[in-house]
Amino acid sequence: MKRREFIKGSAAATLFAGGCGTLGGGFDAEGHPEGAGRLNVAIIGCGTMGRDNMWGFLRDPRARVTVTCDPVRRTKAHGYSGDWEKKVWGGREELRDIADKFYGDKGCRAVADWREVVADPTVDAVCITTPDHWHAIIAIAAMNAGKHVYCQKPLALSITEGREMCKAAAANRVVFQVGSQQRSAAEFRQAAELVRNGYLGDCRTCTVGLSWPKNDYTALGFPRNTTPGKPPEWWGVNEAEWNMWQGPAEHWPDNAFIPGIHGPMTWRWGERTGGGGITDWGAHHIDILQWALGTELDGPVAIENFTSDIDKVSDRYYAWPSRFSFDIVYADGFRATVCDCDKNGGLSGLVFHSSKGDLSVCRGKITKPAHLASWKESDLLDSETRLHRSRGSHESDFIDGICDRNWKTACPCEIGHRSITIAHLANSCAKTGVKSLKWDAQKETSDNAVINARADVKRHNGWKLV
Ligand SMILES: NC(=O)c1ccc[n+]([C@@H]2O[C@H](COP(=O)([O-])OP(=O)(O)OC[C@H]3O[C@@H](n4cnc5c(N)ncnc54)[C@H](O)[C@@H]3O)[C@@H](O)[C@H]2O)c1
Repeated sequence: MKRREFIKGSAAATLFAGGCGTLGGGFDAEGHPEGAGRLNVAIIGCGTMGRDNMWGFLRDPRARVTVTCDPVRRTKAHGYSGDWEKKVWGGREELRDIADKFYGDKGCRAVADWREVVADPTVDAVCITTPDHWHAIIAIAAMNAGKHVYCQKPLALSITEGREMCKAAAANRVVFQVGSQQRSAAEFRQAAELVRNGYLGDCRTCTVGLSWPKNDYTALGFPRNTTPGKPPEWWGVNEAEWNMWQGPAEHWPDNAFIPGIHGPMTWRWGERTGGGGITDWGAHHIDILQWALGTELDGPVAIENFTSDIDKVSDRYYAWPSRFSFDIVYADGFRATVCDCDKNGGLSGLVFHSSKGDLSVCRGKITKPAHLASWKESDLLDSETRLHRSRGSHESDFIDGICDRNWKTACPCEIGHRSITIAHLANSCAKTGVKSLKWDAQKETSDNAVINARADVKRHNGWKLV
């Protein structure tokens, strides 16, 4: 039997036996690799987050980064830094060299086309860190080839794409981790556990502030430049590689590169490649809201009171609002107001309002009401809900899911899909002028035909989901 077929066939039995010895080799009781084998991971998308996630895999001794994949060979312009011209940050060869230096050999391969990775039987898992327009196509192909998937948030560009990804994850019985790493952070878990277990008393509302790093990345070195041209020299792509970057996104006339929306990270603001601030940060904070409310496998019953500045900011290039507000309404009447973080006192995070005081949580900080000031997670009673605890990084939690957690990860596909569905609905409101809609989370349809018509995006250039 081929190795991949063997893995697929024997995976459940192996996991329940408490090890992952068939995956790339054996592991000792502490989870360290025995012999030569490790879990072979490919990084697909070698930009800002690809580099970040790759370090998560390099640091885990159970993993081995064997392939880096990106149509861009080596570029000066990745990373959250304005120092673009001085530093080399990304590209397949840059990340390959980092991996080789880390392992002290030449064992990592750099490839331009992700289909080579999916067809490679030695690859056990892929980490998808491309812009959002590629997530679904690559993830589904990888899962159908039997590979475990770590896929960056936002899970997909549309509700239909997300649902198809969930179907592929279930059908192939692969481990899936959405890159919503706040679920592996103690402050967010504590907040969710306190809300879930009723420690806030009467808590009926929440304000969810989302970061909005302006409608361009001027501060990071990418002004709102919409002059069509060719990909810049320093990006190091030929025409085939540029086409591979664009993939299912509709090309601009003359196959143009638009600096302000095709640059590293700026693609978030383009309609063809991202979903703007609501999906970018909604994938994080709306996800925590759903975790806290226990609606993560379900969803709200309505979106209400949508307002945004889309008329002011939207043109043919910049497609999404940066200033916005809308309410998410749940079946029990709980109401969360999601807004750009300026409307949340500047806080990119969540504030749960309650009769006993507010609980707020953002990256690195939880502020509890006075009566919970000394509360610790160890105070949870056996009868209370304990949420998933990642033992280490979000990347290691993914590997734990493969090795010894019976396919469980902090953020499986279905949960990531349910969270980002809310953001997609809000973006559809922005584009259509709809202010409120009712949502049937089981059927995944709304009461509004105009919104339902936007359940999927068009994929161009011959690319298909499956
Ligand atoms: N979890 C987080 O906190 C977090 C933070 C930032 C970004 N992200 C997510 O990570 C993903 C990447 O974002 P980024 O900020 O790193 O963007 P980026 O522009 O810095 O990097 C994206 C990389 O993908 C490459 N790419 C494009 N098409 C490709 C293809 N067909 N095959 C392989 N690579 C391809 C690009 O060339 C680029 O190097 C996005 O989905 C984003 O939402 C998550």
